[in-house]
Amino acid sequence: MQVPVRSAELQLQPVDMVLSGGRIVNEDGVIEASIAVDRGHIVAIGEDRLMPPARERISLAGLHVLPGAIDVHVHFREPGMPRKEDWATGSAAAAVGGVTTVFDMPNTVPPTDSLESFQLKLGAAKSKSVVDFGLYGLLGEHNLGNLEELAKAGAIGFKLFLGNTTGDLPCPSDGAVLEGFEILAELGLRCSIHAENSPILFWRQNKLKAAGRNDVLAHLAARTDVVAVEALNRACTFAEWTGARIHIVHESSARSLPFIHFWKERGVDLTVETLPQYLYLSAEMMLELGGEVLRMNPPIREAAQQAPLWAALADGTIDMIATDHAPHAIDEKYGSNIWDLACGFPGVETLVPLMLTAVADRRLSLERVATITSAAPARAFGLYGRKGVIRVGADADLAVVDLNKQATLSAKALHSRGKVSAYEGREVKGVPIMTFVRGRMVAKDGEIVAEKGWGQLVRPNMASPAPRNLNTTMKAILDPDQRPWG
Ligand code: DOR
Ligand code: ZN
Repeated sequence: MQVPVRSAELQLQPVDMVLSGGRIVNEDGVIEASIAVDRGHIVAIGEDRLMPPARERISLAGLHVLPGAIDVHVHFREPGMPRKEDWATGSAAAAVGGVTTVFDMPNTVPPTDSLESFQLKLGAAKSKSVVDFGLYGLLGEHNLGNLEELAKAGAIGFKLFLGNTTGDLPCPSDGAVLEGFEILAELGLRCSIHAENSPILFWRQNKLKAAGRNDVLAHLAARTDVVAVEALNRACTFAEWTGARIHIVHESSARSLPFIHFWKERGVDLTVETLPQYLYLSAEMMLELGGEVLRMNPPIREAAQQAPLWAALADGTIDMIATDHAPHAIDEKYGSNIWDLACGFPGVETLVPLMLTAVADRRLSLERVATITSAAPARAFGLYGRKGVIRVGADADLAVVDLNKQATLSAKALHSRGKVSAYEGREVKGVPIMTFVRGRMVAKDGEIVAEKGWGQLVRPNMASPAPRNLNTTMKAILDPDQRPWG
């Protein structure tokens, strides 16, 4: 990371902005200091009287500043599903919510499985997004030959759907997954995995349907914990063998936690996210009026699973929090037959308030919130230093929050096109007041204040690849010059 150097002469020139008197939160502590920002970067942090002259000064007295949240799991639906969301509405929701970078999932129409479809999505995102963005490429059975070009085009990582969900992308065979990991291990990019076992969930779903079950809990019954636990362990087995870096998205089950420990201890390059949904909501709530809106994959489980998941998020077993922001049109979300309802609901706008509420409730420290919303995602996906931390040289991606401000969450207030809230009426304490992306204010007091198109593609800068068992890869065993023994 290059730190911008300013000569003595230049220092007399005013910088773009000084944010004065806030409390700066990083993963390693909270300090009271001012922040000077110039040309998109943080150029000084310190006592206010030591700050350079600035064209604009904003007082943050009484407020806290966190590194802008990085949500590694959103579905902004463009191209292909404008009824649900697009880059303008999705990124507006992010900005208002204190999220300065999002990673968009590839289950769009077309799926992001080739250079061409990557460029199509990049064009839409560039012209409309107000926040920075990473774009996932798809790891599918049919596109193993495209992974390298997707990586070169700037994919933040790859997404593997082991379990089915919106878009009905087919789950690749284990053979294709293993070969995909071999390729990704050499590229060094992280693969985010929807870890559910497809054959089991379809088998159970079909039998439940045949038995006439279409109630809300049938969805949970089809995807009971072993569906997630098995897929997690299979993915980790392949990752250990190949040296691929993996990330388990939306960990929903407390039963996975001992296995996460096991694989991390064995040295698998594994990171894990959970979602506010699994911490705050429960299958029991699905039995209430309108509870079918909580249908998502993997399912929201019994309330008894919440406490172990909170503990794992606090102690680092789970590395980070994301949202699986999955908007749908309202008419797709409600009805009496659970199998007909769209899976998922919006989340990017409520992430930071829900995590700050966890601070108010003494479930998490403020520093831990900075870690799980920003530093850990930045580290896992090769952005740390530039993003994920408030320090000199980093992008000025900042979420200014008022820890004392209370609000009531409501679907009506969401900037997402998916006007459905799983948190309707819930009180939160701790709300984003201003959001800055590379030094520009993009949201203030719940409104967007930047032009569409300010957001930029972020490319990963990963550590050197560490592939393993290279003599047994598909490439090796098909190479006539090699004599494979594996
Ligand atoms: O419920 C879900 N909805 N889970 C996913 O994994 C994907 C998402 C979507 O795209 O709608
Ligand atoms: Zn998702």
